[in-house]
Amino acid sequence: MKIQIDHKDFELMIEHEQVKKRLRLIGIQLNVAYENRIPVFVGVLNGCFMFMADLMKEVHIASEVCFVKMASYRGDQREEEVKTLIGLPNSLKGREVIIVEDIIDTGNTLKQVIELVEREEPVSIAVCTLLLKPEALEYDFEELAYVGFEIENQFVVGYGLDYKGIGRNLKDIYRAV
Ligand code: XMP
Ligand code: MG
Repeated sequence: MKIQIDHKDFELMIEHEQVKKRLRLIGIQLNVAYENRIPVFVGVLNGCFMFMADLMKEVHIASEVCFVKMASYRGDQREEEVKTLIGLPNSLKGREVIIVEDIIDTGNTLKQVIELVEREEPVSIAVCTLLLKPEALEYDFEELAYVGFEIENQFVVGYGLDYKGIGRNLKDIYRAV
């Protein structure tokens, strides 16, 4: 199936049912790994909202949920800068943290989120991302423990991800053609 957003064509890549199946498996892994540890899930807005909502329905252990919001922009330097728009609400000192991302591309955003969380001195940090573009990744994250799907270096929309602000409400995931 094809859709169009602002004159750009996208084709169906991952159906919602496939995402849900994958989330059930990740949920089982998390339930085992974090049993009796009361982890804090830190979602990275805006993109994570749909993934996080479905993921948390598969997490049956006691846990907390909070969100951060970062904005990346091109500053004076060539390297992309990332700014914190919404910070961490409560202390993560001594906690087990699971960062939840919609997609990891270059890894710039994730690097900043990890640094933000590290300052709070948690005992552990793991990253759970729905999508990962291995070819675009510029860092080697030892925290990257849970990956929904590895995808090619293509632009995707739907299920929380947007193109020019549009498409976050799409149930399935689409790739640019
Ligand atoms: P970095 O490069 O920091 O990128 O890992 C992460 C952020 O960039 C956005 N991004 C995308 N958004 N479709 C989108 O809708 C994509 O294919 C895509 N690739 C990167 C996204 O906001 C992510 O958090
Ligand atoms: Mg994002």
